[in-house]
Amino acid sequence: MERRIGEQHHEASGNESRTHGPSSVKYLDSLSPYKPVSSLMRIWENPKQVSYKLDWNESTIPPSPKVYQAIVRFLSYSNHLNWYPELGSTSLAEALTEYVNLDAENILVTNGSDDALELVCKAYLGPDDRVLVPVPTYTHFFVYVQARGSQMVQFHSSELFDSDIERLDAAITPDTRLVYLVNPNNPTGVVYESDDVAALLESHPQTLFIVDEAYYEFHGKSVVHLVGEYDNLVVTRTFSKCFGIAGLRMGYLCTSVPVMTELKKLFNPKSVNRLGQIAAMACLSDPDYYDNLVEEVTEAKVLLRSEMTRRGYRIVTTPANYVLLEVPNPSRFCRLLEDEGVYIRDRSTLPRMEHFVRITVPTVAQAHEVIARIDRVLDRM
Ligand SMILES: Cc1ncc(COP(=O)(O)O)c(C=O)c1O
Repeated sequence: MERRIGEQHHEASGNESRTHGPSSVKYLDSLSPYKPVSSLMRIWENPKQVSYKLDWNESTIPPSPKVYQAIVRFLSYSNHLNWYPELGSTSLAEALTEYVNLDAENILVTNGSDDALELVCKAYLGPDDRVLVPVPTYTHFFVYVQARGSQMVQFHSSELFDSDIERLDAAITPDTRLVYLVNPNNPTGVVYESDDVAALLESHPQTLFIVDEAYYEFHGKSVVHLVGEYDNLVVTRTFSKCFGIAGLRMGYLCTSVPVMTELKKLFNPKSVNRLGQIAAMACLSDPDYYDNLVEEVTEAKVLLRSEMTRRGYRIVTTPANYVLLEVPNPSRFCRLLEDEGVYIRDRSTLPRMEHFVRITVPTVAQAHEVIARIDRVLDRM
């Protein structure tokens, strides 16, 4: 089942965006300014309360100590903040060759993975091009599609928690320009198996596929090896989730040389900041720290599942660092939990997710405290 959409995340704003000043490109008429929903301000307003920020799937602990050491070393031994960063982040791309097992020519470091998604849309989409997207998924991607004047085609799997890969395959037509797969999907946790992705790439060589692996480190499985085999694949990754440096905006993409050549025509080689480059290098130098975090999160997921199931609630765990919890009144549940200093994401407005909230999985010790606060809220529901 496919459906074209008017965007639900960035609602149509009618004429109000065009009342003053020079007019922007006409595709922006259907968008309104992005209204981010983050708990950050509320957390800063309550410095005395121990808060748990579990709404944006960020890491709940600081990054490796090596990150701080590298930044302090850089700031104390040089005054090079007055210079532009290393162009093209070549040292980091080189360090990533080992991590992703590809050549540097297949890797492009970007200003967060959002930047990578936008770059691909800028290079490959034009007015009326069709983009197929299984939903619900990471909605910010939709903006980049719409800003190009392209057409979003939503794909609804038969089962919310199933990839429905055969019907997805059938929904791709010769004029599908781009397919966006988040693997594992945010928020459902749906996984696209590597063999299935390879079959899609093989059957639709005229279509470019983005596989967004923002949660790769938690999942442990990737399709990045397919970059060496197929010219129509872009894999995007981030340092914002497991690596814990969301505030520094670091991401990268992996793709074939022909696609890279096109992307580099638009890419700004000084767009990635120097501290981010240094921090990301330091992250890669401390795999044990991050392996431990992944183990913690995996353990905490099991804990959350058993505790919430024991209390009679349905919980859907995912291979990523978030779970979905089904509650009778999601908005009230989130509001009451905020009063307890726990910030999670109400996902009940997404298609077929009427009763779901999404909770970022913290460490085991943090999960115990979060469960205690959830209990206090459940008593008041
Ligand atoms: C699937 C997905 N892709 C991309 C991003 C954005 O990542 P970045 O911080 O690297 O821009 C997110 C953040 O929530 C995400 O969930």
